[in-house]
Amino acid sequence: MRELVRVRTVSTPAGKRPRRLRANPALRALVRETRLEPGRFLAPLFVVSGRDRREPIASLKGHARLSADVAVAEAHRLAGLGVGGILLFGIPDAKDHDGRAAADENGPVAQTLRMLKAENLPLVLAADVCLCEYTTHGHCGVLHGEQVDNDATLPLLAEAAVAYAEAGADVVAPSAMMDGQVGALRSALDPAGLENTAIMAYASKHASVLYGPFREAAGSTPSFGDRKSYQMDPANAREAMREMQLDTDEGADILMVKPAITSLDLLARARDRFDVPLAAYQVSGEAAMIEAAAERGWLDRRGAVLESLTAIVRAGADIVMTYFAADAASWLNAKR
Ligand code: PBG
Ligand code: ZN
Repeated sequence: MRELVRVRTVSTPAGKRPRRLRANPALRALVRETRLEPGRFLAPLFVVSGRDRREPIASLKGHARLSADVAVAEAHRLAGLGVGGILLFGIPDAKDHDGRAAADENGPVAQTLRMLKAENLPLVLAADVCLCEYTTHGHCGVLHGEQVDNDATLPLLAEAAVAYAEAGADVVAPSAMMDGQVGALRSALDPAGLENTAIMAYASKHASVLYGPFREAAGSTPSFGDRKSYQMDPANAREAMREMQLDTDEGADILMVKPAITSLDLLARARDRFDVPLAAYQVSGEAAMIEAAAERGWLDRRGAVLESLTAIVRAGADIVMTYFAADAASWLNAKR
């Protein structure tokens, strides 16, 4: 028989025992590096025309397409929970080839914004700016043959941003991944007297399978091809930094990465490089993975939500767009 190996009682250098600070909840709370707060969250809302409409979205559990009046009620609930704000997506009654309805001052986004503005809630009102919800073909810009025409798309995005800003958006968020979109928005907003409207740029947006449930919600799946000629290759991180630099140069006030969990390295890098607020979008597919696994009893829903949000903030995000905004806020509020 071999003798048991003798180990020194204190095997770490200089008696260091990291477990000391994990001994009880109070100690753990004292040394916690990352804290979640509801005020960091933006809740995505899908709005449609009409009144008293709440149509559940099959691919996005707990979410629905809301008419403006119902969206206002939902906004009151979110404000009560201390959620930071909302991010609006519009689904028009009718789509066309060039996505003209995106800039409709009487479309669901503008209408909801006007109603919300009048409520004076302590919420940031942000509006996504893209054409894909409004085009018959589902691409994020106007087509020239089968190509998405970058420069022909810019004025349409800018027009939509001006319409939303005039209706009351505090923040417009261009998501089409057209080159120059941030500069185009800024140069249209300023002369319209909207120099105080902030731009949150979808700066690093990967062409991701994780947008699938959203596209079902918005009816914006491309009818042909994919978005790889404008959204970034998920393999690229240095390119993401170039995109962020360009958007900063064009006047972005906030830089966003998307999807969130697949971009934690980009958040960490961006945190070191850029001194503007950073945002991350925990997209529909990230939510769907958690919901589906939780439904099967394969993981704890609340734990998965809070852990993923914590990691996103730990990596460097100041702001998180999340479909769990209301749930996470109520869990965090209950802890106090
Ligand atoms: C519109 C837009 C999309 C998302 C945000 N803005 C869809 C896409 O690019 O296909 C994705 C959000 C999500 O998946 O939750 N361009
Ligand atoms: Zn789009």
